[in-house]
Order: sequence, then structure tokens, then C-alpha cells
Amino acid sequence: MILRTADISCFRNIKEAHLAFSSQLTLLVGKNAQGKTNALEAIHIALQGKSFRNAPDSDWFSLTHPEGISLVAKVLSGSDRMTTVEHHVTLSPHRRSHRGPKIPVIVFSPQDLSLSQGSPSDRRKFMDATLSLINPRYEKVLKQFQHAVLQRNHALKDPRLAHTADSFTPSMITSGLYLWTIRRQLLEELLPMADRIHGRIGHGERIGGTLKYGGCDVPVKTEKEYEDCLRRRRADEGLRMMTLVGPHRDELLLTVNDFPISLYGSQGQHRLISLSLKLATYHLIQNEFGFRPIMLLDDVLSELDPDRRHALLQMISEPGQQTIITDTEARNYDQLTPIIYHVDQGQIVKVGGV
Ligand SMILES: Nc1ncnc2c1ncn2[C@@H]1O[C@H](COP(=O)(O)OP(=O)(O)OP(=O)(O)O)[C@@H](O)[C@H]1O
Ligand SMILES: [Mg+2]
Repeated sequence: MILRTADISCFRNIKEAHLAFSSQLTLLVGKNAQGKTNALEAIHIALQGKSFRNAPDSDWFSLTHPEGISLVAKVLSGSDRMTTVEHHVTLSPHRRSHRGPKIPVIVFSPQDLSLSQGSPSDRRKFMDATLSLINPRYEKVLKQFQHAVLQRNHALKDPRLAHTADSFTPSMITSGLYLWTIRRQLLEELLPMADRIHGRIGHGERIGGTLKYGGCDVPVKTEKEYEDCLRRRRADEGLRMMTLVGPHRDELLLTVNDFPISLYGSQGQHRLISLSLKLATYHLIQNEFGFRPIMLLDDVLSELDPDRRHALLQMISEPGQQTIITDTEARNYDQLTPIIYHVDQGQIVKVGGV
């Protein structure tokens, strides 16, 4: 899959932009707060139908041109067929529409480098985002599960409704068990892969991890085990007025040489394990689809030391890899000759490359 062009219209501080991409490396260079990440976000929405920033679509409307957002991308598929994917949002009435298949794309930003140091919910989001890319059903079931927990919590919080809480339990168990099964399968593949990558770019330490099942002491593999665990915590749930058992309370415990990194990890170890996990995700998606996902690197190179930067650049130098990088300055990208765009106050102008 090669992203050929993107047309961005009335998105955040970008009024109109037309970008034509290199099949290898395209740079978006500019000072802070000019619209580089906005452009990446727009590209991601066109390709995936959603943003990688945690912002509602009401924030996407341009403050100066709020009439309607149009994001259109043209993608060349393996069989040389051009596919158009597009996302449109109107303000009044507030409507969103997406056309075209979801195109695999991986975003890598400085926040990803604190994945291991962040909260348990950051690691849950990481698992969810990875799985949503490779398994469309996962995203659907995740929504069903969240909805069931929301309704159940609502009932638990209201003494008049408390007796209805258990009517939401069966759908929570069915969807929750699916999420646990798929997360377990993901980690069985992802963690050894991350360990191998870490072995290449790290200092000889082994990394690993275990999934601590939310609210349970042991892995939950059947509906019966889920029910048993729920029964043990039911009184507690009544007292605390919330659902205490389920994947929404999972913790992915990461280890370095079998020691929990949350207790003993240095800053550098955290960054390295986070980078290894993210690169493992990339390989996983590549294995899954049989081609390399488009990579969006937002400001990440300036955050890495020379060895890690080299590891990342090596990966994007491989044939067939398309990457778009934002940076505040154009660097030396080894043998790659990028197409370069300059981003200034939302204006995106080509300044170099073929
Ligand atoms: N809805 C919006 N309408 C208009 N302007 C917006 C909107 N949302 C954000 N902006 C503007 O976009 C700019 C930030 O863009 P962006 O986050 O892409 O910056 P950047 O070039 O990536 O900067 P940095 O190098 O600091 O990451 C800010 O000037 C902000 O005011
Ligand atoms: Mg930015």
C-alpha cells in the first residue's frame, strides 16, 4: 500500500492543503505549533476514520473556517489499483461519514516512549489500538463491553436500580471474555517479538510481561471462571458501587530480567522497552497483512539517542516502507532522499525532493 496524495480541507489550522507523498520518506518540517501534527492527524483520519489524538471530532473544525471538514486520500494498492478513502464531517447538522477501506497505519509519537512508565490505562489503550488495527471484531466487542460496564456501573451507583445490575452481567461476560482471549493471544506473540527487538537495540537484558486479569487473581479462560471471580467480588462491588472485574481493569505488567519495570526501571529502560513494544507492533501488523503499514513518526526522532534513532531509521530505510515524519528541522536521513514540505501557520508548501 502506498499513500499517493492527501487533500485536507478546513481541518484545525489547515485551510487547504494538497500533499503528494514519496513512496519512501516525506518530511513535514516547521517550527512548533504550525500544524505538523495536525497534518498527520488529518492523514490518519482519512486512512483509519479516527484520530490518534484523544480529541472529539468537534475539536477538528477550523476556528476560522468551521464550515465542514473534508479529508481525502488516494492509496495505491498492491495490484496497482488506486483506491480513494475519505472522511467528511459537517458542523450543523453534526454528521460524519467515512468511505473506503481502513488502511493500516502506525503512529509513533513521544508519548509512546513513556508507554511503560504510564498508567495501566495507557497500556490497555496500547493493546486496544493494536488489536483494533488487526481485528475489526475486537473494536466492536470492546464497545459492547464498555457499554455493558457503563450500564452496570450506573445501576450499581443508584440504590433504586442496584437490583438490575446483574441483568447486564451476561453481555459483559461474553464480550469481556472475548477481549481477554484476544489480548492473551496478542501478548503471546507480541512480547517475544519485543524481547527479540530489545535484544538487538538494548543492552543484553531480557524483557517480558504478564497480563494481570482485572479484578481476578488468576487468568480467566472460561465464562465459568469469569462468573466465579465476579461472585467473589460481588459484595465489594455493591460497597464500591462499580464493576470491579473485567478487562477494563487489566494491568500489563512489564519486566526487565524478570523484575517489574514499574519498580526498578530507569528512564532509559522505560524508553527502550516502550520502543521495543511499538516496533514489535509494527512487525506484527506486517505479518498479519503481508505488507508494511504506513508509518507516521510525529517528532519522535529528536527524542531518541543516536543508537535508537539508527535502529528506527534502519527500519524505515527498508524497501517498500513508506514513512511520513514531522520534525522541527530536516536531518540527515542516511541514504533516503525525502520529499520535504514546509509547514507554517497551517500552510503546507513543498520545498524539496522529487
Ligand atoms: N480547531 C482548530 N482550529 C484552528 N487552529 C487550531 C485548531 N486546533 C489546533 N489549532 C492550532 O494548531 C496549532 C498546533 O498545531 P500542531 O499541533 O499541528 O503543531 P505542530 O506543528 O505539530 O507543533 P509542535 O512542533 O509543537 O508539535 C496551534 O497553533 C493551534 O492553535
Ligand atoms: Mg506536533
